[in-house]
Amino acid sequence: MAMGYLNGKFINSSDPVLPIDERGHQFGDGVYEFIRVYNGRPFMMHQHMERLFKSSEAIRLNIGKTVKDIIAIVEDLIERSGQANCDVYMQVTRGIAPRDHLFPNVEASISMTVKPFKLISDDIRKVGATVKLLPDERWQNCWIKSLNLLPNILAKQAAFEVGALEAVLVRDGFITEGSSSNFFIVKNGEILTAPATNHILHGITRIAVKEIAMELGITLKEQAFTPDELLAADEAFLSSTGLEILPVTEVDEQKIGNGCPGTVTVTLYEEFLKRI
Ligand code: PDD
Repeated sequence: MAMGYLNGKFINSSDPVLPIDERGHQFGDGVYEFIRVYNGRPFMMHQHMERLFKSSEAIRLNIGKTVKDIIAIVEDLIERSGQANCDVYMQVTRGIAPRDHLFPNVEASISMTVKPFKLISDDIRKVGATVKLLPDERWQNCWIKSLNLLPNILAKQAAFEVGALEAVLVRDGFITEGSSSNFFIVKNGEILTAPATNHILHGITRIAVKEIAMELGITLKEQAFTPDELLAADEAFLSSTGLEILPVTEVDEQKIGNGCPGTVTVTLYEEFLKRI
């Protein structure tokens, strides 16, 4: 069953509970996390919590709870939902107060939902995804997991409308990441991904990819690369909580490598499955 949580109460996720004067709703004034739960266990929970607290600090938002408090709520919510395999979405906003750009003197508002997840279809996984290159029109602080996702949404929709699964963003001639995923290429057996600067979200699955590559003895360089380098790559793939590790075989109607999911990507994914 899908379940929700809002400021101390467990609710139905579809209940109309927020007043109009809520800063997430009015300004996107908040941060969020999206966490996958496999067999009742939230995957890489501590890394998600670290990122949540870093993001909220960056926007000067006091969550008013400890990591332990938040984990306890998540565990309670999962148990109440009766779901062993589900996604937890949580957001923390600057609270409920009459609309004013200045910070209000109120407590943060914390909400969560838990819903069963749908894995990417086997068909897409076997064939690999198509992506579209688009300009990265976001602000300078993409490392903050802010609720403000308008450029991401517009890019994803534009990609979807030409039959692509993801928009891959280009800033100043270099690929940053996907609209809701991190992006990697493989060339001559080495993995390349954009460095963890302020221009990308420091993905949790990206951390898993780095750890797995290290364990397998595959070189992973955090080094910026261009669309031309992507088109000349042997393999490409996306990583995110929802997509896990997903091969990319076509970019703007051009095949990557031999047009099939690459062996490095497939090996990383197999190792990933052992960790969940
Ligand atoms: N998106 N980059 C961006 C811009 C993202 O929005 C996401 C995640 C990622 C991958 O991060 P992670 O591995 O921690 O999921 C990279 C989530 C899933 C979302 O917005 O729903």
